[in-house]
Amino acid sequence: MRRPTRPVRRKDASGTARRSGARLAARAPVTEPLVTLHWTVNGRSVRTRVPPMKRLLDVLREDLGLTGAKEGCGEGECGACSVLLDGVVVNACLVPACQCDGRRVVTVEGLGRRGGISALQRTFVEHGAAQCGICTPGMLIAAHALLARERGKVPTDAAVREALAGNLCRCTGYQKIVDAVRATARAAKRGRATR
Ligand code: FES
Ligand code: FES
Repeated sequence: MRRPTRPVRRKDASGTARRSGARLAARAPVTEPLVTLHWTVNGRSVRTRVPPMKRLLDVLREDLGLTGAKEGCGEGECGACSVLLDGVVVNACLVPACQCDGRRVVTVEGLGRRGGISALQRTFVEHGAAQCGICTPGMLIAAHALLARERGKVPTDAAVREALAGNLCRCTGYQKIVDAVRATARAAKRGRATR
């Protein structure tokens, strides 16, 4: 199985490059005092009472019922928990809830429009880029961020691999994922050209 070009060290919510395996957020003890987050999740303003050091991944899954982001390693290595925090891809298993106050979070559930799936998600299905599906939400988030940055262009194979280097997949061999991302960009570019 061909792995992406090189490992990526993503940043935590404060913008600091994380150390490999660092645990910045942890499952919070029951007795920890609660804080109130006023934040935006998938475009909706939300108020959430949580322990300050509860992991963003657990807040999304347990408190908001958004189970799209998955837990793979729980240590910032696999990317299965990737979400967008103010437009930047982060590993939600490393982000404490208290760092999300006043910020915008987008999960895989927020990528579709009007209850349907996005063009990127549809192209993943068409290309067989999702198999067991554990990595897929994180792959979609990272690919979505790349396509938003490269709007109007078709990223090279190498650029897609670079953008997805923080997301591990044990099923697809990666090429189908890369092909799906580039096909989505090509279709968007054609759409713009014929408008
Ligand atoms: Fe967060 Fe693996 S579960 S990076
Ligand atoms: Fe199974 Fe990627 S589709 S880990």
